[in-house]
Amino acid sequence: MSQAHLYTHIKSLYGITNNLPKVKAGSEMKDFEHINHAWLLVSDNGTIEDFGPMQTVPEFSGPTTACIEKLILPCFVDSHTHLIHAGSRENEFVDRIKGRSYEQIAQSGGGILNSAHKLNLATEDTLFETAYERLCTAISLGTGAIEIKSGYGLSLEGELKILRVANRLKSISPIPIKITFLGAHALPFEYKNNREHYIQLILNEMLPAIAAESLADYIDVFCETNYFTVMEMERILDAGWKHNLKPKVHVNQFTSIGGIQSAITKKAISVDHLEIMNTADFEAFKNSDTIPVALPACSFFIKIPYAPVRKMIDYGLPVTLASDYNPGSSPCISMPFVVSLACISMGLLPEEAFNAATLNGAAALELQKDYGSIERGKRSNFIITKPVSSLAYLPYSFAENWIERVVIS
Ligand code: NIG
Ligand code: FE
Repeated sequence: MSQAHLYTHIKSLYGITNNLPKVKAGSEMKDFEHINHAWLLVSDNGTIEDFGPMQTVPEFSGPTTACIEKLILPCFVDSHTHLIHAGSRENEFVDRIKGRSYEQIAQSGGGILNSAHKLNLATEDTLFETAYERLCTAISLGTGAIEIKSGYGLSLEGELKILRVANRLKSISPIPIKITFLGAHALPFEYKNNREHYIQLILNEMLPAIAAESLADYIDVFCETNYFTVMEMERILDAGWKHNLKPKVHVNQFTSIGGIQSAITKKAISVDHLEIMNTADFEAFKNSDTIPVALPACSFFIKIPYAPVRKMIDYGLPVTLASDYNPGSSPCISMPFVVSLACISMGLLPEEAFNAATLNGAAALELQKDYGSIERGKRSNFIITKPVSSLAYLPYSFAENWIERVVIS
């Protein structure tokens, strides 16, 4: 049981919603509703009880914190991470500085297969301990809910191991965790001349074992040239639905091959990456509930185009931002940096970037009932900033730590 707490004299309380919307799309994204000179009351069951302007502050005899010159805003919801992995891949980083591309490195045995090799050698305890440290870092940087993918096992035992570690983290985590099975992340070497056997392994062995232990919430496929085809993704997503795993997929990172259209037909909750988009890809979103998730830290790190999110918002879509934290293409767990990048390199306004990284992130994890905004009845899950001049100061002061405290119910 937490204790009721009153926060007063808040310079501005941001990210307020009132019983809807569940997600913000297009022009709605420029409104990140706020009250200046505000108070916020958290109840003893860890939910937001009430808030308002200082003229209406209630009598309260419990603990009180004055937030003079500070902002309060909802925690980030990081809807796309590969948090659990063994070791790092800075050797590939140096290779890229010397001129090799991410794809060239992957084709010569580095990349995802390199991480899979390391993960299969690691113990569950080591994976758990290192991932727990990363989770704590994420929370200290303002993340209040997170998704974690498998995909570095790529064997029955390896995938079960990484998913069990994710479930162990979930059982002790102070923030909600959603878990995604990504068996189709890359084709292991031993299946090079027999793709179908690996697909069969996913469909007939991995999926039933995962379902039997209820180890995942979602299913993912890396649908991309040199990884998995659209047809392979469709078979895997159909099988996932039979086990109640909803799709959240990697599409259009390097090439546009029809993955968005197909994932939308398969009722994907989200389609993630989207660096390479053509007109038909945009049109596919019409009349769909699938959420587009952009991952700017990956574009920044491996120097690929940024997803055209300015265009997506102008097109009316509910753009979402996530970190894509992983050891190969985005060793960055910082959502404040992701929000800065979205403003600096993708043309989002600060308000749009915060909506994308909070409320829309919650929708991309189906957590919007309890997370993603400051709303009466939602969990108390928010960031108190250091004294700052305005909301725009936050993405502007990139690489500076503007977070004073993260409050998790
Ligand atoms: O989202 N694109 C596929 N998967 C990861 C990268 C994984 C890796 O390089 O280890 C991503 O960028
Ligand atoms: Fe990813």
